Amino acid sequence: MRKYELIAPCHFGLESVLKREINDLGYDVTETVDGRVSFAGDEEAVARANIGLRTADRVLIKIGSFKAVTYDELFEGTKALPWEDYIPSDGRFNVVKASSIKSTLFSPSDIQSIMKKAMVERLKLKYNLSWFPETGHDYPIRVTILNDNVTVGLDTSGVTLQKRGYRKLTAKAPIAENLAAALLNLTPWHADRILVDPFCGSGTFPIEAAMKAANMAPGVNRDFIACDWNDLVGRSVWKDAFDEAREAIDLSVETDIKGYDLDKDMVDIARANARLAGVDKLIHFQQQDIKDLRQPGHYGFIITNPPYGERLEEKKDLPALYGTLGERFRALSDWSMFVITSFEGTEAAVGRKADKNRKIYNGMMKTYFYSFMGKKPEKRRQS
Ligand SMILES: C[S@@+](CC[C@H](N)C(=O)[O-])C[C@H]1O[C@@H](n2cnc3c(N)ncnc32)[C@H](O)[C@@H]1O
Repeated sequence: MRKYELIAPCHFGLESVLKREINDLGYDVTETVDGRVSFAGDEEAVARANIGLRTADRVLIKIGSFKAVTYDELFEGTKALPWEDYIPSDGRFNVVKASSIKSTLFSPSDIQSIMKKAMVERLKLKYNLSWFPETGHDYPIRVTILNDNVTVGLDTSGVTLQKRGYRKLTAKAPIAENLAAALLNLTPWHADRILVDPFCGSGTFPIEAAMKAANMAPGVNRDFIACDWNDLVGRSVWKDAFDEAREAIDLSVETDIKGYDLDKDMVDIARANARLAGVDKLIHFQQQDIKDLRQPGHYGFIITNPPYGERLEEKKDLPALYGTLGERFRALSDWSMFVITSFEGTEAAVGRKADKNRKIYNGMMKTYFYSFMGKKPEKRRQS
């Protein structure tokens, strides 16, 4: 079985969550830098990581790295990489993404075209071809240049891992599925505890929580670009990894997960998405205004992504809306609450200082993940 160095990019600020997930899958993390975690693995790891990682954006096979401050160095460095070990003579290959941080070379289009030329030069010699038909499978290359160090990866995921396949219908401002999963992992929530999202939109938090509770791998119902690369990740390896993920699912788990939204269409969308994900039996969705939020039960968790003004509502409505959220939360005396938002007045409006406040980038938007911790159940406190 082929061995690889793998790179999993993720949201900035959530590397520690991804690192834990990779360890839990049984792989050794070799490096963690801003926005990506590297680990050692084989063909099986490529398949299992793509299917099983809830918080990564994609899984890349590292082709190599080198330093480049001129385009000549970029060309030579790229040409020196063993492309023939990865791309067959009929493969379609392109640098689909080049990003540059604190580096001399920064023009993505120039980086992309120079690297493609260098790859062609190398493969021409290796395959003894003067022209490449590129009629075979896709081999997308992703490159990051950080402090003039070029890291070259072959993307094994294709469509970003954020897309599980269940969110055919989206809300007005949906949270990325892998971001929702990572935030859930940052809370002490467990399948045996209550979870409520009072602003559920398309249902991402409740669905991700239900999938986690049922031990359903996020990628079990989709495919990946590397499923076509028999030479790099064998078909039987994929089959075994999918079988393993399917066998692990336990839909008999008892859950108390609820999603509410003021907008009836959103509630219908959330239900449809949960059905597509196969976890609709584990979640209760209902139309409800936050002002009516009342819950039986103790030690529950509110985990939510309320409106935050940028894209949806007028900013002026936010203090009152977050004030209502705070008031409803206080009435649930032993509950905890976790809120992701870019609204800077959250603590003032909720009426309480957060126990923790983590800065997280949601794409280019700076957001905060506020933790308002409640009491722990008696048993847990003693243990
Ligand atoms: C940022 S979106 C949530 C997106 C959601 N996390 C998702 O992934 O789709 C905020 C949601 O709050 C809902 N909302 C706005 N005002 C509300 C209120 N007073 N009570 C309950 N829901 C409300 C909106 O309809 C919208 O779906």
